[in-house]
Amino acid sequence: MNRKIVSVLLAVVMLLGVLTGCSKTTGMTKDKFVKACEKLKLTELEIDEMDEIEENVEDGFYFSGDEDLIADKSKIIDKFLKLAKLSKVFDSGDIVSISFASKCSGYEDLKDLEDPEDAELDGAFAFQMNFGQKDKVEDFMDGVESLLKKVKIRTKKLTPKEYYVSKDEGYCRLHFDLAKLGQMILDDDDLLDALKDGYGEDIEDILESLNGDIALSIEIKGSNVFILAGGSVNTESKVYKDFAKAFGLASDPMKLPMNEEVAEDMTELIVSYVKYLSMARDAKRTITNVIGGISGGDPNGDPNGDPNGDPGKTPNTGISGLGKVGISLPTKDLMRWYEDGSKMKEEFETLGYTVDLQYAGNDTATQVAQITNMINSGCQVLIIAAIEASSLKDVLEKAESKDIPIIAYDRILFETDTVDYYVTFDNYKVGQIQAEYIVNALDLNNAKGPFNIEITAGDPSDIASAFFYQGAMDVLAPYFDSGKLRTVSGQKDFSDVVTDAWKTSEAQTRAENIIAAYYQGGTQINAWLCSNDSTALGVVNALDKFYKGATYPVVTGQDCDLSNVKLIIAGKQAMSVFKDTRILASQAVKMASQILSGQDVEVNDTQTYNNGKKVVPTYACDPIFVTFDNYKTILIDSGYYTQEQLGL
Ligand code: BGC
Repeated sequence: MNRKIVSVLLAVVMLLGVLTGCSKTTGMTKDKFVKACEKLKLTELEIDEMDEIEENVEDGFYFSGDEDLIADKSKIIDKFLKLAKLSKVFDSGDIVSISFASKCSGYEDLKDLEDPEDAELDGAFAFQMNFGQKDKVEDFMDGVESLLKKVKIRTKKLTPKEYYVSKDEGYCRLHFDLAKLGQMILDDDDLLDALKDGYGEDIEDILESLNGDIALSIEIKGSNVFILAGGSVNTESKVYKDFAKAFGLASDPMKLPMNEEVAEDMTELIVSYVKYLSMARDAKRTITNVIGGISGGDPNGDPNGDPNGDPGKTPNTGISGLGKVGISLPTKDLMRWYEDGSKMKEEFETLGYTVDLQYAGNDTATQVAQITNMINSGCQVLIIAAIEASSLKDVLEKAESKDIPIIAYDRILFETDTVDYYVTFDNYKVGQIQAEYIVNALDLNNAKGPFNIEITAGDPSDIASAFFYQGAMDVLAPYFDSGKLRTVSGQKDFSDVVTDAWKTSEAQTRAENIIAAYYQGGTQINAWLCSNDSTALGVVNALDKFYKGATYPVVTGQDCDLSNVKLIIAGKQAMSVFKDTRILASQAVKMASQILSGQDVEVNDTQTYNNGKKVVPTYACDPIFVTFDNYKTILIDSGYYTQEQLGL
């Protein structure tokens, strides 16, 4: 239902845009309107007998189909929905009654406009549906919210006068800036040419003369939904006041102060729609189809055509779900990121999205430049694994100002409001799993100890490093406290054990220094807690080169990179936490497509991931660990690696 309602609203907005932008040829005259309504068997209201809603409508034309009249509900309502071009998206079965109203003198005037300066839009187009059930109306408001997301308007941009939602009532009022709309079309040569083909040279004058704004108001009262759209040039127009009053609206929606930002967004939206229509193979026919749809014309736009005619194919607005996604990942060098990126790209493309996938070579400036480019090139959602979250502050704000939603991928974006969602494996748990493995492998609960352990953590700029470290240290703390565990090097604090950019070479150099300084003369290393595989590789290299102890340490890792799985098979690394990139990538793709199609975004944690500014709604996947005993099942049988890749 939600999706349908979203589409309904979208259709209304779009129709409104077309009516306004191209009003010269709408053909929305009184006669046609009345004829269309009669053909639909809608009844002109008997003003005297009607309740106050209709009594107030004097200047406009108001038709309704109530329960009796629409005994054969589906037929009548479907006809109406067809007329309004909504039949494919609205479930008529949910509607108990429906009314349709229009004040069209403004459009009529425009039709015979001699001097564009005289353009005076004072038309209103309204319909009211009664769902009979309040929960349908709640669905409807959900739909409104989804629509706003879909057209990239966040409700926080709207003042309480423009947007309010509660369980049983709500409203939303949006404005479009007509002058900007006209200008945007005028500035676009292709679009203008296409419109001229359809409407003649004087469309330019019409566009230049547009001013004021048009507004869309959606009001909920009980189980009634009332949608009113109209131009604000003539704000004194009686029909607006009447509708507003009749429906008990707080105030005339046309008179609300315009929200510039929202007006701009809506204007862009309309322009992209008009563009779509205009660029269609037969611009004139396509546009006329839509107008025909609303005015009761046939698919070929015959203004006197059959109102029951097929209103034509719902135009693809380019915002109906598919779009462009920007993916910014730290580096291609590490196998996991390469896999994450390829997997997401493949899935997005299969779904029909365009993807801009960039790896930043672990360089923050490069990442900023790449994301800037994604924003400028029209990406509609960004998926980011930050190299250093703090250096992205400005570029994230830029994305926010363009209302581009941001998903933090694997690494949370810290100290910023400009992140919408987080998709990750539970990073704290990764550390816990590594440490628990060590606890079991050394049998710390029973063995006497003391055992020697060294620690290699990740890049301090990567916020995930702290989570891995802390998860592990919280598990190991009691054993350090009781003296069962100790670091001979004395390097235990996070700042002492970090590895710049997660580099294998850095981890190796530090490990070599530790071995040379503290583990000569037979001192044994029992465990080496490494936060990930690239650092584990450095540690294993150092052990290979310089470690002479009788016991080989339990080395942990994370990612199941190919070379590290080979180390597991060779007995040099004990375990690696497996964060199946297929799962994470799929979840990110799901999240982004839910955002882009205006659906609710699936998250499973709305409490844990406080980034210092806000709790980021998160989908956290569960990591597992891989050892020599289970790598075949987990990695080969699941198709993650082939035997050949692992040299088997
Ligand atoms: C990721 C790890 C990865 C590390 C180095 C972390 O943010 O969670 O999986 O090994 O970055 O790229």
